Amino acid sequence: MTTLILGGAGRSGTRVLTRLAAAALPALPASRRTGFDWDDSSTWAPALRGTTGAYVCFTPDLAFPGVPEKMEALGRIAATEGLERLVLLSGRGEEGARASEAALREGGVATTVLRCSWFQQNFSEHFLAGPVRRGRLRLPAPDVPEAFVDLDDVADAAVVALTRTPPKDSTYELSGPELLTFTQAAAILAHACDRPITFEEVDVPTFVHDLAADGVPAQEAEPLARLFTEILDGRNASITDDIAQLLDRPASPLNAYAQRTANSGDWS
Ligand SMILES: NC(=O)c1ccc[n+]([C@@H]2O[C@H](COP(=O)([O-])OP(=O)(O)OC[C@H]3O[C@@H](n4cnc5c(N)ncnc54)[C@H](OP(=O)(O)O)[C@@H]3O)[C@@H](O)[C@H]2O)c1
Repeated sequence: MTTLILGGAGRSGTRVLTRLAAAALPALPASRRTGFDWDDSSTWAPALRGTTGAYVCFTPDLAFPGVPEKMEALGRIAATEGLERLVLLSGRGEEGARASEAALREGGVATTVLRCSWFQQNFSEHFLAGPVRRGRLRLPAPDVPEAFVDLDDVADAAVVALTRTPPKDSTYELSGPELLTFTQAAAILAHACDRPITFEEVDVPTFVHDLAADGVPAQEAEPLARLFTEILDGRNASITDDIAQLLDRPASPLNAYAQRTANSGDWS
């Protein structure tokens, strides 16, 4: 009963692994450092072999072009290797991610899809950590409301999906408990950090330039910018109760994450 954690050294993968280990449930991380490479499909079957389920976290983004083909191949290999369940990390309102979800299911393995709102941890563990430290959030998007979700809630939900019996084909939309515009989110982060943080809409080239300055490679920055111009139009401006349904408790608000992260010194 071993679960493979694809992206096991990443932001969500480490959280899922920690939780399975704490529950004494066998789990193995998989990524390039263990010999699994999304760019080399010959590495997939050996990694899946002998496992009963997998958490599927694609990097850099499930919505990028070319990913549905990889998901279809992975789903078929998972079926051949006898896996009983897959849990796929996905994004809300993303057409490209929808195609990847459908493609993974082509193999016929019971699949739970977790369609997530923006991760709160984008502000501290990802491309917005530098901008928060500098006090200037700049995005190629208007000041739309978003239901920022805590990655710890996402990981808890993934563990429920990976461990419940029997495995089910299902889709959840995971959101935080409140809708906040980027200006409102910046104010919450500013309050926690006790210094000013502003939000500003910028054009795509400026955003890509900012990402490059923060070390995000151009081949990742450009599709990310295109994705944000697509999805940050208000389409995800709704909250769901799917976290409460899965975890029997409410989703955690941005304010709690912001206080915790400020206290940890990550934004100092
Ligand atoms: N950020 C958001 O707000 C948001 C919202 C909704 C959905 N999502 C989805 O979340 C996913 C990203 O999740 P995350 O942030 O948890 O991941 P992450 O932290 O970016 O994952 C990094 C992991 O991927 C591995 N990796 C990188 N390149 C690889 C390759 N070529 N082959 C195999 N492994 C590789 C890395 O380990 P190695 O270096 O050892 O390979 C590392 O373990 C994306 O699919 C995105 O669509 C994100």
